[in-house]
Amino acid sequence: MNLMVSDLDYGQAPSLDQNLDPYALAKALSGRHLIGGELVQAASGKTFEIYPATGEIIGFGAAGDAEDVDRAVAAAVDAQKSWSKMRARDRGKLLYKCAEALEEHVEELGRLIALETGKALRTESRVEASILADAFYFHAGLGSELKGETVPHHPDMLTITVREPIGVVGAIIPWNVPLLLMALKIAPALLAGNAVIVKSAEEAPLTVLRVCQIMNSVLPAGVFQMLSGFGPECGAPLVAHKKVGKVTFTGSVETGKIVYKTAADKLIPVTLELGGKSPMIVFDDAKIDKAVDGAVVGMRFTRQGQSCTAASRIFVHDKVYDEFVAKLRAKVDAMVMGDPLDEKTDIGTIISPEQFSKVQGYIEHGRKEPGAVPIECSAMPSDPKFKDGLFVRPVVFTEIGHDSKLAREEIFGPVTCIFRWTDREQVLAAANDTEFGLAATVWTNDLHAALNFTEKLEAGFVQVNQNLVVQPGLSYGGVKNSGLGKEATLEAMLEHFTHKKTIIFNKT
Ligand code: NAI
Ligand code: MG
Repeated sequence: MNLMVSDLDYGQAPSLDQNLDPYALAKALSGRHLIGGELVQAASGKTFEIYPATGEIIGFGAAGDAEDVDRAVAAAVDAQKSWSKMRARDRGKLLYKCAEALEEHVEELGRLIALETGKALRTESRVEASILADAFYFHAGLGSELKGETVPHHPDMLTITVREPIGVVGAIIPWNVPLLLMALKIAPALLAGNAVIVKSAEEAPLTVLRVCQIMNSVLPAGVFQMLSGFGPECGAPLVAHKKVGKVTFTGSVETGKIVYKTAADKLIPVTLELGGKSPMIVFDDAKIDKAVDGAVVGMRFTRQGQSCTAASRIFVHDKVYDEFVAKLRAKVDAMVMGDPLDEKTDIGTIISPEQFSKVQGYIEHGRKEPGAVPIECSAMPSDPKFKDGLFVRPVVFTEIGHDSKLAREEIFGPVTCIFRWTDREQVLAAANDTEFGLAATVWTNDLHAALNFTEKLEAGFVQVNQNLVVQPGLSYGGVKNSGLGKEATLEAMLEHFTHKKTIIFNKT
């Protein structure tokens, strides 16, 4: 992407009134960070273009760098002092107010995220905008749970532990579900008494900024800030900053490892939510129609497959394989690809030209695999307005080898592989034969088999006969290369956003 010194008119920041014109709102939010309670441009004055869906430029992100990181960290250090001294339940009250304010903006946020990311409004973007508040409501009530312990160490001593905030937390987020993934990081970090600096993904900074602007109308200045910009220029200095005491990251394995290594130099804790290649195992006794619906949801075809938990390896028992494939094809064929803002659209566009080429590369590779059968579903939109749009028809690959790179690597596009199986031990071994371990689903009415598989599947989030997405209150996170640490629960808040101090009083 091109960086440029901007000639944007930085006039007034947009008002907080709900604005249902996403084009106007994208423009008004352009080129800004949220630092110290103000929407400000990058210190360098540089911006970058945001051009989703139809290929037109819809706005600009502020190109943050180390100078912006310094400004934000200084404001955070200052603001955190009084924030951490506030009663935890009063912090919770403010988070509750954030949730209410965000709920008043659901339609606006849904429309803006649809425009910015190309995710269809009805099936994805409005849904994400409306579940965002839930993450705040959940964490808002946890203030009284920041408890310590009394330790029966010695009768002459009173020994207690207390939970203290870490200080300044850096939260680096991706573009696929930026609002929800951000909320699952910032709500617990703030409740625990930390100041938080979010670094948005360069593909999707504007709706995140709007959420931050809304929260900023409720929270004290500096407690919560947002920087936009690229990974190496803006994310890396945030991780490396000596006053940032914790980093929580969601994104690729490759970048997660870089973040982890940088954090290791400072010996600070890190939470990593990384990629996946999640198996879905369908037995011959499963309810096939339900399993097919589960595959459509699990593969996130409505999100162009851009999900870390995508059911991108589907193992179907030989006896029901043909029926499953035919029904899945029919379902995906019936999905409408088109304008993300159109209510009729099920499937929108891929996030960026880079991601588009990456996905196309995998599909081309798959076509050349000996024996592999690509089943292309749905149809490209006919409107000439979308001739340069980043649309990819969903592809279901059958008869493809377990060792194909399509079956091994995270594609992050609307591409899934279906394998045939007959032997339970073999399919279990194949499901676990991956570097990832994020999610898995099992589809059967055989209770014994379900228990056996859920016990043996190497994944952090395992479901039987359903395919729910991440929910506040349910521990979420991976094993193996899918990550480090869990999110979305009380325990995760205590473990990742506080440290435990032991205090001993000698009574004699
Ligand atoms: P990425 O992991 O590079 O980006 C995620 C976030 O990290 C962004 O905010 C980015 O600016 C930031 N970042 C990048 N380099 C950094 C650095 N050196 N230090 C600190 N922060 C840095 O992911 P990207 O490039 O957007 O997508 C590449 C692939 O990653 C996708 O094709 C997909 O396979 C996977 N991915 C997985 C996600 C998940 O939810 N697990 C989300 C996004 C991407
Ligand atoms: Mg990257």
